[in-house]
Formats: sequence, structure tokens, C-alpha cells
Amino acid sequence: MRKILIIGMGAGHPEHITIQAVNALQRVDVLFVTDKGADKEDLARLRREICARYVPERALRTLDIPDPQRDRDPADYHAAVATWHEQRARIYEALFTEQLGENQCGAFLVWGDPSLYDSTLRIVEQIAARGAVAFEYEVIPGITSIQALTASHRIALNQIGAPVEITTGRRLAAQPQPLCTDTVVLLDGDCAFKSLTEEGLRIYWGAYLGTADEILLSGPLGEISLTIQQTRAAARQRKGWIMDTYLIRKPAGPPR
Ligand SMILES: C[S@@+](CC[C@H](N)C(=O)[O-])C[C@H]1O[C@@H](n2cnc3c(N)ncnc32)[C@H](O)[C@@H]1O
Repeated sequence: MRKILIIGMGAGHPEHITIQAVNALQRVDVLFVTDKGADKEDLARLRREICARYVPERALRTLDIPDPQRDRDPADYHAAVATWHEQRARIYEALFTEQLGENQCGAFLVWGDPSLYDSTLRIVEQIAARGAVAFEYEVIPGITSIQALTASHRIALNQIGAPVEITTGRRLAAQPQPLCTDTVVLLDGDCAFKSLTEEGLRIYWGAYLGTADEILLSGPLGEISLTIQQTRAAARQRKGWIMDTYLIRKPAGPPR
């Protein structure tokens, strides 16, 4: 039976990768690569470094998967994403059939962890459900950008007994204030934190976490918001792309 491994590669540092992931890489015949966007080169460099460091005895066969065009500003966001997943599923399915022998192992090295804002798992599930190509799949966890953020700031993700919300910049921008005691925001191209006005909020912000370019800023949101916006814009211009994540923290009430 063909095997597909969906491996979390960590969020930027080559040593984020787990021993379980390193062992899984030893079984891989073909590595499927789905990088896209302005950060493509840097992501590819980290992936090459991981393979060279942890599978030094052989060159892994790597196949670039073309990404179908996606409507970035659709009227119906969910329908557009579903169509895009469907197109990707068809491309992946053809590659599994044509590029993997009956008993071979293919893998995706997914940025961070495959469970967090990543479509690989959903697409692979979709292919399995269609049943046109028979395969088994396994998920190997990785360090997420959220863990990289909290570790670099040396903070806990939650306050005592309190919940945490994980959301996107787009959703945060659509709500007047953070709903949860602690809100982690990913995929924010527009500094959605700048519209938050509630008293007492703190922000822990990190860009290029885990990499040599890592930038960390933290403090009362009202005091530091502009500095983060300026730092982000300058870093993005310097490097050509940016990946940043942040935690908005409200003062906690008494533990429940
Ligand atoms: C498509 S999501 C993928 C998340 C990934 N699966 C994970 O486990 O972190 C991409 C978003 O993750 C965040 N991110 C990923 N890596 C990061 C890093 N090294 N530094 C800062 N943010 C990062 C950014 O918010 C970025 O927009």
C-alpha cells in the first residue's frame, strides 16, 4: 500500500523538528513540495537544510506541486476555498498515482504543525475519501508558530484556568474587541490589532520566529502598537515578505 506522511517541520528553526519526524524522513521516497508566495525561496532553503541535516546519506527525490490559481477576494470565501481544495486534491491524486510505486512512501513537510491553518490534511482526507488511489496516511506533529512565539517571549500561552482563542487577522478585524482572555492571531497582513481600544491589553508580537531574522516586541498595546506597525513594514520591505504572529492578553479575572 502507498503511504503518505504529513510531517510538521517546525516554524523556522531547523532544530524545531522532532525525532519522530527525523525518523519518518528516513522512510520517504518522494517529498512533495507545495511552497508558494514571496517566502517560497526561504521556505525551500529551510526544507533543504532539514533534509541535508537529517537525511544526509541520500538526496530525497523532490517534486514541486503546482498551485492552482486562487481568487484572493471572493464574494463567497468558503465556496472559493472548497473549489481550491478540490483542484489541489485532483493534482495531488494524480501525483500519488503516477509518481509513487505501490509500496512507496511520499511525504509533505508542512510548515509548523499540520493541524494549524494548513490545508494539507483536508486535501489528503478528500483524496482518501474519493478512493481513486489507495493509500494510508500518518501525521507527525511539529512545533507551531504559536509555541515558537510563547517560547521566545518566555510566557505561558494561557492564564491560570483561562481559555485561549486562536484566530486570524481577518476575523479579529471584524470584531470590536478580543473575545477571550488570551487571543492568538495568525495570518494577519494588516495589523488588525491597531483597531483594538480596550484598556489594559498587552501584546506579544513575533516575526520570522525561530529564524536568524527573528524580531520580538511586547508591551501595553496602546503604547507599542505603532512601533510594531513600523517595525513590521520596514522588515517586510527589507526582506520582501513577512510572517508574524501575536498574542493579545487581557488582564485575567480571578482563577475559576
Ligand atoms: C498558513 S499559517 C501556517 C501555520 C503553521 N501551520 C503553524 O503551525 O504555525 C501561516 C501563518 O503562521 C504564522 N507563522 C508561521 N510561521 C511563523 C514564524 N516563523 N514566525 C511568525 N509567524 C509565523 C503567521 O501568522 C503566518 O501568517
